[in-house]
Amino acid sequence: MDLFRDVPSGRLPASPSPELTPWWHRESLCYRGNLLHIAGHAVVDLIDRHGAPIVAYDRARIVENVNRLKGALVSTGQPSRLYFAVKCNRFGPLLGAIRSTGVCGIDCCSPGEVHLALNSGFEPHEISFTGSSVSEEDVASIGHLPIRMNVDSISMMHKVGRLFPGRRVGIRVNPQIGVGLTPQLTYAGGKPTKFGIYEDRFQEALQVAAQYGLIVEGVHMHVGSGWLAHGLETFLRAVDRLCSFASCLPELRYVNVGGGIGVCHSDEDEPVDLDLYAGNIAERVGTLLGDHVEICCEPGDYLVNDTAILAARVTMVEEKGGVTFVGLNVGFNSNPQAAHYGFAQEMVHASRGLADDASPRFVVVGNINEVIDNFHSDAAFPKVEEGDVLVMLNAGGYGSSMASNHCMRKLAIEVMLG
Ligand SMILES: Cc1ncc(COP(=O)(O)O)c(C=O)c1O
Repeated sequence: MDLFRDVPSGRLPASPSPELTPWWHRESLCYRGNLLHIAGHAVVDLIDRHGAPIVAYDRARIVENVNRLKGALVSTGQPSRLYFAVKCNRFGPLLGAIRSTGVCGIDCCSPGEVHLALNSGFEPHEISFTGSSVSEEDVASIGHLPIRMNVDSISMMHKVGRLFPGRRVGIRVNPQIGVGLTPQLTYAGGKPTKFGIYEDRFQEALQVAAQYGLIVEGVHMHVGSGWLAHGLETFLRAVDRLCSFASCLPELRYVNVGGGIGVCHSDEDEPVDLDLYAGNIAERVGTLLGDHVEICCEPGDYLVNDTAILAARVTMVEEKGGVTFVGLNVGFNSNPQAAHYGFAQEMVHASRGLADDASPRFVVVGNINEVIDNFHSDAAFPKVEEGDVLVMLNAGGYGSSMASNHCMRKLAIEVMLG
């Protein structure tokens, strides 16, 4: 890769030194001198223009991520369909970037998300709905649309059947095998979760569907989020189970394996090999169910999380109880990933370059009065002073879509670059 391409005039070139190249470094996210750049813009310049805190998205990276995954699915030869899990991010320009690819629909989990997808220009046939604790009103408000609807409980099957007899449906199953980056991100396996219909009641679900003339055309699962290369084997065991549920459906058209592929958060993380992912799913679906059966997947994180950074101003650097805390002018209300899901939010300095082994360590916290308002417990920066700008990587997913006005703290503004 030519790191010197597209250097805006007057800017320093990206650091070419391999030993200084961090795991997250790419042409559109890199240091030029000591200044971090995203999509050709210095983060400090973005803050001067828009203020802090800010979430800045790299449009080209969104398109690249969608095309990379779609390409891996297409190369298997099995029919496939990609949906973006809009619960991960509903920023308008981001949905526009997804739609511009022409190869990705939208996965929704509520009627509100279905209407947002329609208003964002997606056609009903590009929309898949998989909700939980679904009410009669939920079903009534979207069941008439020609969207795919995956039924998550026997209760929901009755509701769909009563309101829309004869409709085509999919069944979300719980294969009782799960994999996730942390326990908070593991949706199946171990102790029972609320998601999907379990094997012991699958036949009952089919009987209820038959009672209303519902045509079961698909199976669906989502067994966890954020898993990386080491999680693929467990995920594929869940796909095996999913296929065994599907094998008794005469009208089967699709198998939806959910989302879940994670993004790397540290230099120890190994990304999922997309050819292994797609190839193994296709081999199972093609062999066990037929080469006409469509593979669907509906990632959120994988498509958008590494496409944005969140930059915030340092408001405090202080030693307390033997620990040096760095406080920011942003809190978990703008980016709850670390607080909700229990992993460290990788951070770098916007204007002092990369840390090294000798750099001081800090606990980075937000401006919300909660113990969980902690972004990183062992972050390294060359130096940090009040007024500096720190940058969270992987800030494109489960940030603004889960934002709240807890403590009435200002939310980060969102900007699309490119
Ligand atoms: C049903 C369903 N599909 C897809 C996703 C997207 O997951 P991820 O962002 O891990 O790809 C989720 C996440 O909660 C989900 O619940």
